[in-house]
Amino acid sequence: MNMSQTPATQLPGRAERAAAAVAISGTALEKSYRSGNVTTTVLRGLSLEIGLGELTLVSGPSGCGKSTLLSLLGGLLKPDAGRVRALGIDLWTLAARDLERFRLEHTGFVFQGFNLFSALSALEQVLLPLGYLGLDAGAARLRAEEALAEVGLSDRLAMRPAALSGGEKQRVAIARALAKQPQLLFADEPTSALDAASGQRVIEILHRIARRHNCAVLCVSHDPRLIGQSDRVLQMEDGCILTDRRQSEQKESTA
Ligand SMILES: Nc1ncnc2c1ncn2[C@@H]1O[C@H](COP(=O)(O)OP(=O)(O)OP(=O)(O)O)[C@@H](O)[C@H]1O
Ligand SMILES: [Mg+2]
Repeated sequence: MNMSQTPATQLPGRAERAAAAVAISGTALEKSYRSGNVTTTVLRGLSLEIGLGELTLVSGPSGCGKSTLLSLLGGLLKPDAGRVRALGIDLWTLAARDLERFRLEHTGFVFQGFNLFSALSALEQVLLPLGYLGLDAGAARLRAEEALAEVGLSDRLAMRPAALSGGEKQRVAIARALAKQPQLLFADEPTSALDAASGQRVIEILHRIARRHNCAVLCVSHDPRLIGQSDRVLQMEDGCILTDRRQSEQKESTA
């Protein structure tokens, strides 16, 4: 077989997964919050790299700085010091409008609380950001339907959030992020509000998105159920990365 004709959709082998191309790097990140006279220092010079095509989990106790780290790497919150490079771009050197454009075109976010509009159907929720991307109505509809099909919601297109279960709402939120076809997908506690079965399904979908779309999926959570489902697990405590384990290598090396 001519290897140069290997289909682009074929899943990467162990070697590729072990050395996933870097999608985001944070270098010497520092962040403190000030409220009144009180300063809370969350990150003191943290560095890490997140790879394309895999699901990376940052796990750790409440308050250790997971959401702060995700916000810095996703271009939502400016570090006090340090650098974030995403897809080769130094994010915090961009003008505000360019950073907004970068987030629109290359990133998707999924949060614990779903952040859906109560008056919109599942399809309309997913269509909304596609309008900002400038897609025409036909192309946007096709993409939205594909994204909702990928998360198993083809039969829920017309339903509003009030008629959806928690797991279904979260899957709409994932479809909304996915439809933009981002290379970077950020999820902050995506399963914490869900029962075990719905949470399991959500994490499986995030894992599959990373592989199928060669997307960097960064998930932060204190939910221990996610640990076994991730390609790589970073354990965080008090603003530091304590351990960095690559799960697939361990599983494959014992196979
Ligand atoms: N806007 C803010 N103003 C002041 N302090 C803040 C702010 N946001 C976060 N903090 C503090 O920074 C620390 C880290 O918060 P962060 O939300 O990053 O933690 P976390 O690991 O995501 O926690 P959880 O698992 O509960 O979501 C906490 O002590 C928190 O109280
Ligand atoms: Mg948090």
